[in-house]
Amino acid sequence: MRKRPIGLPDKDTWQLIENNLPEPSDGEFLIKCEYISLDPAMRGWLNDSKSYIAPVQINEVMRAGGVGKIIKSNNKDFKVGEYVYGQTGVQQYVITDGKGYHKVDPDLAPLPMYTGTLGMTGMTAYFGILEVGELKEGDTVLVSGAAGAVGSVVGQIAKIKNCKVIGIAGGADKCKYLIDELGFDGAIDYKNDDIKGRLKEYFPKGIDVYFDNVGGEILDLALGRLALHARIVICGAISQYNNKTPIKGPSNYLALLVNRASMKGMVVFDHAKDYAQASIQLGQWINQGKLKSKEDIYDGIENFYETFLKLFSGEKLGKLVLKVSEN
Ligand SMILES: NC(=O)c1ccc[n+]([C@@H]2O[C@H](COP(=O)([O-])OP(=O)(O)OC[C@H]3O[C@@H](n4cnc5c(N)ncnc54)[C@H](OP(=O)(O)O)[C@@H]3O)[C@@H](O)[C@H]2O)c1
Repeated sequence: MRKRPIGLPDKDTWQLIENNLPEPSDGEFLIKCEYISLDPAMRGWLNDSKSYIAPVQINEVMRAGGVGKIIKSNNKDFKVGEYVYGQTGVQQYVITDGKGYHKVDPDLAPLPMYTGTLGMTGMTAYFGILEVGELKEGDTVLVSGAAGAVGSVVGQIAKIKNCKVIGIAGGADKCKYLIDELGFDGAIDYKNDDIKGRLKEYFPKGIDVYFDNVGGEILDLALGRLALHARIVICGAISQYNNKTPIKGPSNYLALLVNRASMKGMVVFDHAKDYAQASIQLGQWINQGKLKSKEDIYDGIENFYETFLKLFSGEKLGKLVLKVSEN
């Protein structure tokens, strides 16, 4: 990372550089990264402000989750040929002592899935809707960013739990995908529909759980349609991440009072001790055909910047992944 962006990052935010490969020291191993996870949170890590994790510093390697194969090892717990997931950064090779890395099995699931449904975004969806959202069978559920990595899994989990699920996404094609492919009960195209009117149609008795990935105006409109004892999960606010002015908060917040509702923030890392159990459940649902995992994969580390922008333009479906080297 070369400079801190204001608003939407421009091309000069990052620079691609080439170095000779160093050798792993005692206790270390060398990974050849194959897939890098592209996440909206990366935008937040560029800001020099207090958050749940320290910002990336200027001239540091851009932080990112990634999955790759161990090609040299001086660490007895990590062997050559094994695959691992961890904070590789946006790079083709990384040396590590293994702290924060875990092994993944390419025979159980395709590698890119470990960056998404079986990785950070799947965990976010699982704990966000089931624990933070306290989902109950039969709830009416609204999820924004619904065709994205987290939202698409949230909606499908809620369907598995026999809830009525409505997704919000940008464009008719994504809305059709939510209903036809993922089994949502309905969808709202926030770029073209009358959101308030559609919420009234879909939720005549109100929303029990709103899973918020976008913040801004959509959060305000959802607040205006809550059911008694509703729960709002504040997972993210992508509509605000590139603001040049302060983040716009909800003005409709007294709806929480009237409906005895709650709004709770979440950070996925708080659930780390239970990731293994969640992965088993998500994997079972995938195997049973109850949960679809969609990865949208682009190619080439030199295309990092253009691919990253797709998170904000919405020109992608499901989990955005960058392939940075061949197997
Ligand atoms: N709290 C946590 O621990 C945690 C963990 C992971 C992710 N998150 C958050 O969860 C949210 C979703 O993450 P994700 O990985 O699943 O990303 P994603 O949904 O796969 O990608 C972002 C999507 O956001 C939509 N979008 C972009 N700008 C928007 C806007 N102005 N208004 C409404 N929608 C907009 C785009 O879809 P459309 O085409 O539909 O616009 C885009 O595809 C993000 O806010 C992220 O920061 C939080």
